[in-house]
Amino acid sequence: MKVAVLGFGTVGFGVYEMLKNAGGLEPGSVLVRPGKNDADYKVTSISQITEDPDIWAVAEVMGGTDPAYEYVSAALCAGKHVVTSNKALVAAYGPELEKLAAENDVAFLFSAACGGAVPFLHNIALAVESDRILSLGGILNGTTNYMLDAMQSRFMTYADALADAQALGYAEADPTADVSGMDALRKIMLACAVAYNMLPDSGLCCEGIESITAEDVNHIQAKGYTCRLVTSGGLSADGRLYAYIEPVLFPANAPECSVLKNFNMAKYTGENSGQIVFMGQGAGRWPTASAVLRDLNDILHGKRFMMQPDCKRVAADNSLCEHKYYVRLSEELADSIPSDRADVYDGTARLITKPMSVKTMHDIAKELRKGGNKVFFAAIGE
Ligand code: HSE
Repeated sequence: MKVAVLGFGTVGFGVYEMLKNAGGLEPGSVLVRPGKNDADYKVTSISQITEDPDIWAVAEVMGGTDPAYEYVSAALCAGKHVVTSNKALVAAYGPELEKLAAENDVAFLFSAACGGAVPFLHNIALAVESDRILSLGGILNGTTNYMLDAMQSRFMTYADALADAQALGYAEADPTADVSGMDALRKIMLACAVAYNMLPDSGLCCEGIESITAEDVNHIQAKGYTCRLVTSGGLSADGRLYAYIEPVLFPANAPECSVLKNFNMAKYTGENSGQIVFMGQGAGRWPTASAVLRDLNDILHGKRFMMQPDCKRVAADNSLCEHKYYVRLSEELADSIPSDRADVYDGTARLITKPMSVKTMHDIAKELRKGGNKVFFAAIGE
């Protein structure tokens, strides 16, 4: 079965190479930008793929929504199965593409879009067939985990840690999506769509690692904590969907502290299964390509979709999720947040807040920053 590859970057090259040795599969043409077609198998027009009767499936690994949405739609309409590693595409157009796939009786799978090699979406899709997922999430961005680990265990600066993660091929083309938390937030959107048949696309709370400083790292470590960037999704007691991402401080014995480098730790809790944890490389050429190949094999075995074709878009509600927060801000703003205790030194206050909702904490930080104030916050994990 011939598989065409859209994009020939870090992941595209990996997929192409892996297809050469994959049982039942072989590489077809590769779509590249005009001027980059320096070999017979490289083509520059999507019609050379959609009109090729020998192409059985398409692996979209270009990233972004434009022109990926147009190309993936064209491939599905042409009766080609599609797998993608593109979370921006699925977060923006997943329900439409899944519906288009169903209408054309082909598959649309995207487990490579969440967690790299970690079979997170793959297993959630299996779990929902026999259990109810109560919550899900974890460390779902390899770039920021690599950076936080480098800053905390090797005392690298933020800029050097980011440059390293980019050189190793973990970061997105524009790493803003990684460090802002948006990349992992999209992954939790996808996981919710698979688990609950609801794609949360508004009301989301997103805090990345852009505000953390070397002084924060020193202070956090002196208190015995390790910082990780963690996504959370699930159903509140009243059945409403929550979905957010924020830095979390873990005590030394927490399993999250042992997630190093570009590794991810994804979890879900099933009503009957209890907590299930997955760990593995969440970014990089071969780990991500391995997930693309896993989806292609699933199609060979008859799998057709991950989210349902009637998946609904909903607003997330993060007002019922509560915890304490660690907050660093300037001394004169310390009273703007209800807290149990504060360390004040040299004009900077470091607080542990009273329990407050995720929505409240994120809203407070947003308001303070509008006034030009610098704020770092992280949830206190267990
Ligand atoms: N930039 C992403 C990450 C790639 O660092 O996790 C894998 O989705």
